[in-house]
Amino acid sequence: MNLAGSLTDGSERTAAQRPAGSDPLLGVLAAVLAGLAAGATRIAGLSGRDGAAAIDAMRALGAGFEKRGDGWRAWGTGNGCLLAAREPLEFGGADIAATLLAGLASTYDMETVIAGASLSEPDRTALIALLAETGAQLSAAGGLRVHGAKVGSPVTVDATKAAPQAAVAMLLAGLNAPGTTSVRVGRNFPRAVPALLRRFGVPVTETETPSGLVIEVTGQTALSGTTIDLAGIATATVIAIDGPAGGGKGTLARRIADYYHLNHLDTGLTYRAVAQALLAHGLPLDNAAAAETAARQVDLTRLDRAVLAAHAVGEAASRVAVIPAVRRALVEKQRGFAAIPPGAVLDGRDIGTVVCPDADVKLYVTATAEVRAGRRLAEIEAHGGSADFGQILADIRRRDERDMGRADSPLRPAQDAHLLDTSEMDIEAAFRAARDIIDQVLAVGKRD
Ligand code: DC
Repeated sequence: MNLAGSLTDGSERTAAQRPAGSDPLLGVLAAVLAGLAAGATRIAGLSGRDGAAAIDAMRALGAGFEKRGDGWRAWGTGNGCLLAAREPLEFGGADIAATLLAGLASTYDMETVIAGASLSEPDRTALIALLAETGAQLSAAGGLRVHGAKVGSPVTVDATKAAPQAAVAMLLAGLNAPGTTSVRVGRNFPRAVPALLRRFGVPVTETETPSGLVIEVTGQTALSGTTIDLAGIATATVIAIDGPAGGGKGTLARRIADYYHLNHLDTGLTYRAVAQALLAHGLPLDNAAAAETAARQVDLTRLDRAVLAAHAVGEAASRVAVIPAVRRALVEKQRGFAAIPPGAVLDGRDIGTVVCPDADVKLYVTATAEVRAGRRLAEIEAHGGSADFGQILADIRRRDERDMGRADSPLRPAQDAHLLDTSEMDIEAAFRAARDIIDQVLAVGKRD
């Protein structure tokens, strides 16, 4: 994924600036699922106009909600057991809540009027077209009037061009349709949605296809109440990949970012950019003041891999990387990048230990020094060059020593990192092994 692109399609705000649990889509989804699940759910961190509108609407459809301290306690109707609302559901401009409720209601054989939504074009037309696939009758009378078919159809739809809330609306429609509802979603789809559905017991699968991520839910299954702290649900999924040079973490990080629709930052390039700036000005690599200035000026959208990939720049990077002020400046930028929804894969030396100690998944990718040297030699030869294996091995060992031995943020696996030794693996095998680990960790949910 291209850095410039990934920075412009996300919010510019960092996690620290974003009020916890404020993603209205996740809040509304939690309220809807709590109102639907059998048994009690406790929700903390649910706030805002959309959250309030979703609670009112779920109450009108038969669920119980009670304020308890800072949070809510909900008693759901049980999946498939919503009651017809006696009056139009009033949304007061809370469009995300209106959209999700329209989806939910579209597979119930009853009339639901969604009033007070300010859905604008093309979102309104896209939503109506998607909902109609279930067999629901829709009209614009009095807002949006939805009458589900006697038995709603599970559908296979492409929602890649629609807003994420429209895709979630279709998944909710699938909850009361017999069989599997399959929704292809866009790159900006929040990865926390499938995790939240799973928390309530919805059977969900996520499958990567050449044309995007497909999320499937199985309808008409029992949902059960749970405890949700929306502040603890990531709006940005972070995968930290650390390891020595040549272990395969760079290629792996790019593949993983593509597969999971996350942004990608090779943090090595940020250290290389600092080194390159010093080299270009003929400044010594231990000039801490100049290196710090260069680090503050690093622009993550303008990291030129072709220039920075040079072997000499890597060597120089390893030397400026020991300067604490350089690390502080770069780590701040790297954290800001990681916090941009939908999240990111960051690869480097200290991601799991220092940059993102709360990352959802941490991998430590390594291989023996001999294997790494062999790979480097093969790469040089593939580009028509020649080199001495012993020389490369010595270089790799020296770099390892410097990266692992420095006082500030040395290279080492985080305590909770999953180790992946790629010595005996090709990239495909390594990618499969990494996916297995990541899928398993993400399915269990973010660590507390
Ligand atoms: O991964 P690479 O070869 O592009 O990294 C170049 C140097 O940058 C590496 O020797 C150590 C340093 N680095 C670091 O100290 N911390 C990171 N997170 C990434 C790289």
